[in-house]
Amino acid sequence: MASQRKFVVGGNWKMNGNKSSIDGIISFLNAGPLDANTDVIVAPPAAYLDYVRSKVNANVAVAAQTCYKVDKGAFTGEISPSMIKDVGATWVILGHSERRHVFGESDELIGEKVKFALSEGLNVIACIGEKLDEREAGQTNDVVFRQTKAIADNVLGSDWSRVVIAYEPVWAIGTGKTASPEQAQEVHQSLRKWVSDNVSPEVAQNVRIQYGGSVNAGNCKELAAKPDVDGFLVGGASLKPDFVTIVNARKD
Ligand code: 13P
Repeated sequence: MASQRKFVVGGNWKMNGNKSSIDGIISFLNAGPLDANTDVIVAPPAAYLDYVRSKVNANVAVAAQTCYKVDKGAFTGEISPSMIKDVGATWVILGHSERRHVFGESDELIGEKVKFALSEGLNVIACIGEKLDEREAGQTNDVVFRQTKAIADNVLGSDWSRVVIAYEPVWAIGTGKTASPEQAQEVHQSLRKWVSDNVSPEVAQNVRIQYGGSVNAGNCKELAAKPDVDGFLVGGASLKPDFVTIVNARKD
């Protein structure tokens, strides 16, 4: 059933860009036009959060790509939610597959980060997704439910309104191999049922579930037409003007 959930599209720039290329991204974002019925978020590298916030139009929110689970201290290389807020960013991506699989972040750590970021007032894009061998072994639901539980256990009642779940099958990230609209819908629907059974039917009805993994200007409309796909988390294509097309995927 199509819902009232507002479409939400994030651009995860990962470790890409410099001031010059970022100026180019900001000009196509500011030129848009971006569908007013879609929440748009961009996640630059931490070094450029302040720069992007100062240049991009107010209809585009800014996100950090990760943060730590405490406010300050001897944690070399980390940034805290209060620093993210201090430069005007309002979102953080947590649990991205690259944080999990390149940097070894556990479900437990991701849960702690989600809890702290929410307690500090940030909005959170919480990422989950199975690896290829897990999908092939028929473990997709087991993996994404386990990851979702580690997140959900750290979200208090009304804070769910500030959480977006991003389903990003690892085998589809940066590979050009997108999940088919049917594959994405199947997992999103199971996730929503899990949330209904384990959190509440109301949260399940309202929580937005993004799809991520090789989304591009050519495949976004078909994916966006699926009833449980409430937006996208876009990597490579978010660095290009195609991102505007993806933001507008639900528009006629
Ligand atoms: P790609 O769109 O480059 O596959 O990356 C997806 C992703 O990881 C977004 O967070």
